[in-house]
Amino acid sequence: MSQIENVLHESRSFPPSSEFREQAHVSSEEQYQRMYAESIEEPEVFWDRVAKNLPWIEPYQTVLEPAEAGRARWFGGGQLNASAVCLDQHLEHNGDKVALLWEGEPGDSRSLTYAELHRDVCRLANVLRERGVSKGDRVAIYMPMIPELAMAVLACARLGAIHSVVFGGFSAQALADRIDDGQCQAVITADGAWRRGKVLPLKREVDLALEGRPEVHTVLTVRRTENEVAWQEGRDVWFHEAMEGASEECAPEPMDSEDILFLLYTSGSTGKPKGIMHSTGGYMVGAYLSARYVFDLKDDDVFWCTADVGWITGHSYIVYGPMANGATQVMYEGAPNAPHEGRFWEICAKYKVSVFYTAPTAIRAFMKWGDEHVEGHDLSSLRLLGSVGEPINPEAWMWYRRTIGGERCPIVDTWWQTETGGIMLTPLPGVTATKPGSCTRPFFGVDAAILDEDGNRLPTNAGGLLAIRKPWPSMLRGIWGDAERFEETYWSKWPGVYFPGDGARVDEDGCFWILGRVDDVINVSGHRLSTMEVESALVAHESVVEAAVVGRPDDLTGQAIVAFVTPGKGVGTSEELKQALQEHVAAEIGKLARPAEIRLTDALPKTRSGKIMRRLLRDIAAGVETVQDISTIEDQDVLVKLRGDDQ
Ligand code: WTA
Repeated sequence: MSQIENVLHESRSFPPSSEFREQAHVSSEEQYQRMYAESIEEPEVFWDRVAKNLPWIEPYQTVLEPAEAGRARWFGGGQLNASAVCLDQHLEHNGDKVALLWEGEPGDSRSLTYAELHRDVCRLANVLRERGVSKGDRVAIYMPMIPELAMAVLACARLGAIHSVVFGGFSAQALADRIDDGQCQAVITADGAWRRGKVLPLKREVDLALEGRPEVHTVLTVRRTENEVAWQEGRDVWFHEAMEGASEECAPEPMDSEDILFLLYTSGSTGKPKGIMHSTGGYMVGAYLSARYVFDLKDDDVFWCTADVGWITGHSYIVYGPMANGATQVMYEGAPNAPHEGRFWEICAKYKVSVFYTAPTAIRAFMKWGDEHVEGHDLSSLRLLGSVGEPINPEAWMWYRRTIGGERCPIVDTWWQTETGGIMLTPLPGVTATKPGSCTRPFFGVDAAILDEDGNRLPTNAGGLLAIRKPWPSMLRGIWGDAERFEETYWSKWPGVYFPGDGARVDEDGCFWILGRVDDVINVSGHRLSTMEVESALVAHESVVEAAVVGRPDDLTGQAIVAFVTPGKGVGTSEELKQALQEHVAAEIGKLARPAEIRLTDALPKTRSGKIMRRLLRDIAAGVETVQDISTIEDQDVLVKLRGDDQ
């Protein structure tokens, strides 16, 4: 039953321009094929050549030692320090190069060179050390998107302390759970965060989270929003006061390749969040190479990844990957519509952003807000666009290409996960002919295939389970404190093969099409349909901005399709629209996929990283109470409204 029907017909294809191709790091199909073949057949040779670019403190003895499922060791015997990879190596030739062009939500801005960032990271590391933080200790980081967040991450790495960044939008309870699970002893936070002109009182959440947790000996607080905060003498320290007297000398701690660099919590569909563990050596090598090749980073690029450092995307493609490459980056504190819907494009124009990386949920919001917010901003500096986090519907992809990319920028739709550490399936922008909705081909070292439950390889275009059959350097090293769950979740479906939990198919050109999480698949009359494909058909309708489809139990067909649809501007919530949409899907995909019910709604429930929470919609569609964990939902009101529609 692992086969998923494939119903999306998308034949548009966009090869890179010769102009882009000629200047790209990887610039021909032949070069990609040769490098890819080597990365799979002789991974030791390939990754040795890549890893040599990093400043090792102690050279590694072996590149890869495969072991039992999920237990591969990378760069054994080697020692390095991730903060030295990101900072120290650039000091001699590029110390004065700008590392961060930071833009605050209220309109203030700061710029920091690599030398300045290095100095502040050293001082912060000394502050932490004086407070008793040392190698192997866990430090929770709960901060807004300000430069001090990047400093906090890198200062932990410098000492060899394991950072656990908790997204600043999470509640005190979510923070407390993560502090407990990781047994964190120190917290770095801020008085507050700006969000759409309002202050989110972060320090207050930390205080709540730490009630009855005396093990946390230090709370270091950055002053950002200047709201009043409570103070616990002995435990609480102002960031700016502590930094003042701190020494600028701090040697980076030599870390073994397999030492843990960080924990990052990710929620599964059931159970408590998992503390995904990433290593130092393999993770850094993966982040370095993928940032370089996927975003084609050059010395004069201005890279902007709009993710929050609270997610893996911010870890790998704001902090570690781009900084390992010495890139200049934009970092933005606030919301995309604060104070107006054109804020992102204003920032792109202001800093002449050349490479821009965002998420489909943001792209769909921009479409909804209207082209007028894009027009009038000079986006001619852009040369490459990226997408991550969810399948991108072809309609949103085409809009991104046309309206933001001026039909000139390649789009890299990058598939990966918190667990994979770095990008796994992606176009290489100078080589791959991109297709709207496809993340195209495996990155170097990624041996991806579509299998059924029994591990048999499925034929071209047959939807099945995505599998990664060989170890890769930035693979997760475990789940903090739960070895069994690690085995069970990722390595138990097929011996020695990684199971990411996504459905996908591969087309005749070898391009991958992600069909969504396997848990979300809908089964209508024995046909397994992917949520992605039905949603894409809906979004292709001119009156639809966003759609989420789920299955609800049906006596006749097993499951019936219920579509939650956000209509566009000026479209009424009429019965006619619902009917038109049902007919539209039937015409696009077939009668089988015709939604039994359409529900119009002005917003969909999403996680704080922007993923649609289909499992909640499933309960609503079935009219049952939700027993699921809803602590990660972005906006509780959406749920109330959707429930209200029931009655
Ligand atoms: C989904 C984010 C389709 C997928 C880096 C994956 C995608 C999960 C894409 C991981 C993409 C991410 N196309 N689906 N380009 N990128 N996903 O851990 O279901 O927040 O398993 O990591 O997001 O989400 P996570």
